[in-house]
Amino acid sequence: MVVSIHNAGEFLSIPTWNQLLLGALSISILVLWSSGALDIRRRRMPPGPRGLPLVGNKHQVPSIKPWRMFKKWNEQYGPVVSLHLGRTPVIVLGTARAAWEILDKRSDIYSSRPRFVVAGEILSDNRRGLMLPYGEEWRKYRKVLHSGLHARRAETYKDMQSLESKATLRDILLHPEAWDANIQRYAASVAVSLSYGKRVHSMDEWIVRENVAAMDYIDSIPGKYLVESWPWLLKLPRFLQWFRREPEEYKQRDIKLYTSLIDDVKNRMAEGKCPDCLTSQTLSDEGFAPGSENKRKNEKVRFDELDVAYTVASPFGAGIETVSGVVFSINLKADAQSLVDGRKFSVVHA
Ligand code: HEM
Repeated sequence: MVVSIHNAGEFLSIPTWNQLLLGALSISILVLWSSGALDIRRRRMPPGPRGLPLVGNKHQVPSIKPWRMFKKWNEQYGPVVSLHLGRTPVIVLGTARAAWEILDKRSDIYSSRPRFVVAGEILSDNRRGLMLPYGEEWRKYRKVLHSGLHARRAETYKDMQSLESKATLRDILLHPEAWDANIQRYAASVAVSLSYGKRVHSMDEWIVRENVAAMDYIDSIPGKYLVESWPWLLKLPRFLQWFRREPEEYKQRDIKLYTSLIDDVKNRMAEGKCPDCLTSQTLSDEGFAPGSENKRKNEKVRFDELDVAYTVASPFGAGIETVSGVVFSINLKADAQSLVDGRKFSVVHA
């Protein structure tokens, strides 16, 4: 049988020229509309790098350590830079002054959070308070953290901080080549001591490696997923939502890490061996510690155990890169060398 080319096209669902032209026209209109809309939005926003239609600046933002690119743009365009990740506008504040002016002085306008589709919803099931919009859940999260981090409570951490400082000086003396790990261990141990009532002896411990991996993954999210700019992709049948695979794998890792940490606290509490810490206090207040009664049962938002696990993990996530980053950035390396020479801190050895 002879089949004409036209019929073969229909039979094999090959698009006809008309269909191709229509498709090309639709894409051109979408691109033109998107670039026009981007231009209009950009005119009302602070300066920043020019993006492409549809994707904005997404292709220019590296998935690992995106802030290096942000820093370059701050140097080029000024302390307040705007860009687009897809259709989502992003403002990068490059100086403390800009952050103060906008986030503190105008906090009534800029205190809430945008929607974090991947990091907040898919990865964290809305259990990470840092990514919640202003509201009752956010207030509850803040209240729990405040109980462990307010100024008077912080006073009680001085002995622990002093112990960790001395241990760090000793580590630097013994292993000056591991400068970065020594400082990171200090930061990790302070955060884990106040959160879970136990010290960190090495950056190689499983909980620390897992925590660092979790934070690195969160840092890699901005600009990485199309669904962030096009949340309608969440309406696709679940098996077609290709972007879920990676965050859902990390979610399982996070849950394993955070529950193992609070289970460990519960076990030590049962044995009477857990020092007072953010987790022991929160487990008791929320009625999850052995023999405790929920003191917060009349609050509007009730936490389940997994909410507690995520919330008390915040300092562990927030306190390592920040503290060690500050120490690195004031460049104490030179001082460490003189410390190794024994000129400054011979007292530590004594
Ligand atoms: C120099 C060191 C630090 C810097 C520069 C720093 C900076 C910040 C910033 C900018 C935020 C707000 C993040 C956001 O809203 O997106 C934040 C939140 C937070 N930080 Fe730090 N931080 C430091 C050390 C620490 C330490 C040592 C801890 C605990 C051990 C800690 C615990 C937290 C927590 C729990 C939050 C979330 C608070 C909330 O959502 O209200 N931070 N930090």
